[in-house]
Amino acid sequence: MKKISLAVIPGDGIGQEVVPLSLKVLDHLAALHGGVKFEYNHFDYGCDYYLKHGNMMAEDGIDRLGQSDSVFLGAVGDAGKVPDHISLWGLLIKIRREFQQELNVRPARVFEGVKSPLSNPKDFDLIVVRENSEGEYSEVGGRIFQEENEIAIQNSIFSRRATSQAVNYAFELAKTRRGSVTSATKSNGIFHAMPFWDEVFNDVSKKYPETLASSQHIDALAASFVTHPERYDVIVASNLFGDILTDIGAAIMGSIGIAPSANLNMNGKHPSMFEPVHGSAPDITGKGTANPVGQIWTAKMLLDHHGLEELGDVLLNAVEQVFKKGIMTPDIGGTSSTEEVVSAIISEIK
Ligand code: NAD
Ligand code: IPM
Ligand code: MN
Repeated sequence: MKKISLAVIPGDGIGQEVVPLSLKVLDHLAALHGGVKFEYNHFDYGCDYYLKHGNMMAEDGIDRLGQSDSVFLGAVGDAGKVPDHISLWGLLIKIRREFQQELNVRPARVFEGVKSPLSNPKDFDLIVVRENSEGEYSEVGGRIFQEENEIAIQNSIFSRRATSQAVNYAFELAKTRRGSVTSATKSNGIFHAMPFWDEVFNDVSKKYPETLASSQHIDALAASFVTHPERYDVIVASNLFGDILTDIGAAIMGSIGIAPSANLNMNGKHPSMFEPVHGSAPDITGKGTANPVGQIWTAKMLLDHHGLEELGDVLLNAVEQVFKKGIMTPDIGGTSSTEEVVSAIISEIK
């Protein structure tokens, strides 16, 4: 019997609604199929924790989380209680950094039965590989002068190591798929970093002569995600470009409530973290209507990561069947509650 220990952080807002229900789905899957047992270590880190303790997590929180095989996170952020840059940098980004989760892998695809906002959605199935540790998300910079002279400086950092790691991963992934990698660039406008990004991309692409490699400026690529998403297989992007592209990817699927993600530790020294693309959705928190599929598909990515691809396929197949029956939450045009969708998914797991 394989045991997988998970550090579970529901976090804030709808994270507290979709995470416990997703654990029920995982338990049902394990009970029905056997061969695996999940052990949960629960953590109440989040904005309420901050109000009580003055920190988003315990002082030794990283050590405690690090004792589990993986982290399963809902969402972080409750701007009415704690400013976003404090809560996110104190929990979500802190975990990504401390656990060296340098890649963020985010798939997007069409689901039968789910209405896309695109007028003519063709089948698309793509994966964005987002560099997850540096780029535009850097702490280098600061604020100088005051009042009308004040200046905020934010330096981007692009290392050859982390950039080529992301690009290499994208090419390896493409070998298992349709064999095409698109690089999100902006070398016409971002003077130092993006010509460097292109150079690394071109260097790495030479190792993969069988793979179709191309580059596209992020602005045009963002537009093309809306007009021709079926053209893309694997896309590799910097931290901020990947962040924005993956919300577009989520939107064209039908809702950000569906999209999953895996923050991967690449050196085997720390856990990886699995969390949906969406945030804490304060506008729908407490209504019982949050789409649980982003969190549940995220659980499939976790299963895949632990070598349980068959179970992961069973899970995603159950989601597909439920969508085909029209059982869905209001964000994708349905009338079902979060719990009803989860119950339907559980009944579909065979
Ligand atoms: P958001 O993703 O929380 O919400 C954007 C819109 O999508 C809202 O209208 C929301 O109702 C809807 N939505 C999101 N998830 C949904 C779901 N599962 N089902 C149905 N509808 C859903 O983004 P935001 O409003 O920019 O951010 C809210 C808070 O979450 C902020 O504090 C932000 O910093 C934080 N945030 C956290 C994460 C994370 O923890 N990974 C990601 C994004 C945003
Ligand atoms: C995401 C989120 C985070 C990010 C925020 C909340 C810091 O938008 O996971 O996509 O920008 O990475
Ligand atoms: Mn985002």
